[in-house]
Amino acid sequence: MSSELSPIDTAKFVAAKQACEYVESGMKVGLGTGSTAAWLVQCLGEMVREEGLKIRGVPTSSRTAKLARDVGIEVITLDEARWLDVTIDGADEYDDDLCLIKGGGGAHLQEKVVATASDRMIVIADASKKVDTLGAFPLPIEVLQFGAGITENLVIETLRSMDVLGHGVSQRMAGTEPFITDEGNFIFDLHLKRIGNPRQLSAMLNQIPGVVENGLFIDICDVVIVGQANGHVEVRDITNDTREVVRFDVRDDDNIFADLSD
Ligand code: A5P
Repeated sequence: MSSELSPIDTAKFVAAKQACEYVESGMKVGLGTGSTAAWLVQCLGEMVREEGLKIRGVPTSSRTAKLARDVGIEVITLDEARWLDVTIDGADEYDDDLCLIKGGGGAHLQEKVVATASDRMIVIADASKKVDTLGAFPLPIEVLQFGAGITENLVIETLRSMDVLGHGVSQRMAGTEPFITDEGNFIFDLHLKRIGNPRQLSAMLNQIPGVVENGLFIDICDVVIVGQANGHVEVRDITNDTREVVRFDVRDDDNIFADLSD
């Protein structure tokens, strides 16, 4: 086990490394956003540079696009790809049905578009992301800047009739300025504590005109790969209802991420 990696980074790294098993030459791959997905991009980059892996990647954010190019992955747009073999991404929470909350990094709009245009979506995570019920992590919604105050009121109104425990709404900030997404929109974080009916909530939020997309991913994720600090990885595939545990050897020279900040 690498002495350079913290336990949480080891968990993310082994999950990312295991996810690389799903990637073959010739594939078009959706590349997620966030600290766990950054490990994946780094690992795939290493395979491109050192093993001759030939893939084309569709990034889900400008951050991931830069990283992918930096590590040697050919980057194409989703329209150029038209359809993807697989998308691999992180998550902020996932439940037993592999419903997800995403968007902690503010990229869930592109992430959802890309994942939905893929044969399969694989989530890579550390064990802390597993929950019995979604909602402890604030649910991000991307909203138009135009009329954002009106949209916020409509969201608050909508939440009143939803099966949720909390009703707080806060605008995401980047320092003293509003956080702006890659698509030029705002993010509101919904502090719901517990989401009783994610499917209904997702549908209702997306009916509000100023809401561009919410961070609930329902019936999109097929496989979750959960890494642990001891190098164990659990792979759960809901398409064939299998669960498998693999033991990963993390060598000292596997610390390919030391110089990467995300
Ligand atoms: C980015 O917008 C998010 O959806 C991320 O995928 C999610 O926040 C997980 O990020 P980490 O891997 O950094 O926890």
